[in-house]
Amino acid sequence: MTLETKSVAELSEPEAKAELERLAVEIGRHDEAYHGQDAPLIPDAEYDALKRRNAEIEERFPHFKLADSPSEKVGAAVAEGFGKVTHRVPMLSLDNAFSDEDVRDFVHSVYRFLGQLPDQSIAFTAEPKIDGLSMSIRYEDGELVTAATRGDGTTGENVTANVKTIAEIPNRLPKGAPPVVEIRGEVYMAKEDFLALNARMEAEGKPVYVNPRNTAAGSLRQLDAAVTASRKLKFFAYSWGEMADMPADTQYGMIEMFKAWGFPVNPLTVRLESIEALIAHYNEIGIARADLPYDIDGVVYKVDRLDLQGRLGFRSRSPRWAIAHKFPAEKGATRLTAIDIQVGRTGALTPVARLEPITVGGVVVTNATLHNAEEIARLGIKIGDTVQIQRAGDVIPQVLGVVLSPDDAVPFEFPTICPCELKTPVIREETASGVEGVVRRCSGEFACPFQRKEHLKHFVSRKAFDIDGLGEKQIEYFYDDPSLPIRQPADIFTLKARDEANGLQRLKNRDGYGETSAQKLFDAIEARREIALDRLIFGLGIRHVGEQTAKTLARAYGTWASLHEAALAIAAGDKASAEEMDALDDIGPAVVEAVGRFFGEPHNIAMVDALVAELTIQEAEKPSQDSPVAGLTVVFTGSLEKMTRDEAKAMAERLGAKVAGSVSKKTDILVAGPGAGSKLAKAQELGVRTMDEDGWFELVR
Ligand code: IVH
Repeated sequence: MTLETKSVAELSEPEAKAELERLAVEIGRHDEAYHGQDAPLIPDAEYDALKRRNAEIEERFPHFKLADSPSEKVGAAVAEGFGKVTHRVPMLSLDNAFSDEDVRDFVHSVYRFLGQLPDQSIAFTAEPKIDGLSMSIRYEDGELVTAATRGDGTTGENVTANVKTIAEIPNRLPKGAPPVVEIRGEVYMAKEDFLALNARMEAEGKPVYVNPRNTAAGSLRQLDAAVTASRKLKFFAYSWGEMADMPADTQYGMIEMFKAWGFPVNPLTVRLESIEALIAHYNEIGIARADLPYDIDGVVYKVDRLDLQGRLGFRSRSPRWAIAHKFPAEKGATRLTAIDIQVGRTGALTPVARLEPITVGGVVVTNATLHNAEEIARLGIKIGDTVQIQRAGDVIPQVLGVVLSPDDAVPFEFPTICPCELKTPVIREETASGVEGVVRRCSGEFACPFQRKEHLKHFVSRKAFDIDGLGEKQIEYFYDDPSLPIRQPADIFTLKARDEANGLQRLKNRDGYGETSAQKLFDAIEARREIALDRLIFGLGIRHVGEQTAKTLARAYGTWASLHEAALAIAAGDKASAEEMDALDDIGPAVVEAVGRFFGEPHNIAMVDALVAELTIQEAEKPSQDSPVAGLTVVFTGSLEKMTRDEAKAMAERLGAKVAGSVSKKTDILVAGPGAGSKLAKAQELGVRTMDEDGWFELVR
């Protein structure tokens, strides 16, 4: 038996300590995937099980509880790119009940805490637990002023512009509403809209989303509100933050008031008075669940009277007056017939379990994700095994483990050669922090047909070549075009000449194009024939070479010729060149290795040479040497009001400063906008020079 599978009661002291450490890392990884990337790695039920195990170990061994224990955390830190909003009333989480017994314990604990006798009955509301993402929407004098995600519970992301595009959320409250109102509730995507969006994504050859919840989250956290507007998001109001006056004295009354103010509230909300009634209602909702137009993952019980809620108060991260009674994940057992390998847009090889069809929770399941080779090893599955699978509201089911393994079951060998037509070796690279990653990737990069189309989309994207009229849609259009294909970046720059050679079959004569739009496209391409060095480097789509790294490389090498020479030398194994690149600020071994690998691949070299032959590459802009901030390290934090974060960064870099993401001893200046939090505190602690936006403008004027 491994440590992971040992019951909490069996753990020795050192084992408990090790287990808590492992769980903190594991839960942290899942928190980041779920909240930070909107891309969960495991079903919610499995995540809940990890959290529960952590809590149980902490209860038995309180002295080993980590200072930053996952039991004290709510959600994830605020993502970069959005302003921050500090919640005046923290946004907390809910405790979970997984059995009728847990519900009984909860109700009894409420009675006990209040010193109330069971015959002095306490009413509870029961509300479906909507599987979306929580939102706090603030109204001042009746006007919607801010909308923020939960973030870490204290500070969320400012997503006001995006929330304003949700038709169901009123921008104005009716007359008579209190002067300050914070409505809290769940933004979600209806199942139907989710399926339609995924069908569209699939038709456009884009990756499909995993489930409505993560799609809703991803749609809301778009920096471009137009994208949010195009996704049909919906809302249910069920709670509140700051309120100038309380318009009701019960939970139920508050929800009725929200409805009167124009917010959608969930029609399945009821008020009940006994444990049996709560459990019966939960069972009814469980049956209705599959037919509801949206995903729910449980029923939330809340003490109805607000004065009692006030007396019960909160634990560190959840109220004592509420609990979420979760639905069990839907499971089934079936035979694993094969494991196929899919190649994703970044070349990542993902094993997919092919299953004998089985109905789980009313849905026929034939495939399940296996994530990576480690997962296959961890599960110990072989082809021919009967495996247990689970759908936890997720569209893509998961394999939980082996139920039965016949003697003739065949172990799976992860391929070492990519299934793409190039048959290039599969590589397992290091992550940016230098540890061996779990992802296996096709090393073909631009040459791998699976990856080429996605690379091309990256090549034309806003921060790379940014060609007007040539976006993702047009790449899809031209990629397989028989007479005017774009299969590699150089093809973009030969498009016009090839079009002219096509005689009557020219672009301007096609549906969807005309004389003007074809000419516009060619002009836009022509305008990009001369390109900044950093955009070219970024556009190549080399692993680990993001926008910032591309800028650093451009600035350090100055010209394409010298960067190219260094990259080829690194590919050829020249240590001095690798060390020189590694020594650059913010560039680590993972980048150097990725550059070396990219320029060691003959297909990539041919692709780059063909492209460069079409271009005039500008020398990198030399940063100013004599500005007051030249050579200094600057950090921007808080919500900037006078410039966007991109603008602030570009300006500082133009003036010869280095922009960092976090405060350290090396930071020279911290520019803090409103709502600045931990970075400001750290800067003050370290004695870093701190200023607001006006101070910054004053300094660099
Ligand atoms: S009440 C202080 N009611 O579940 C308690 N939450 O696991 C505030 N959720 O963060 C939450 N439906 O995102 C509440 N009817 C409901 C809910 C609900 C979904 C979500 C919410 C919360 C999470 C906690």
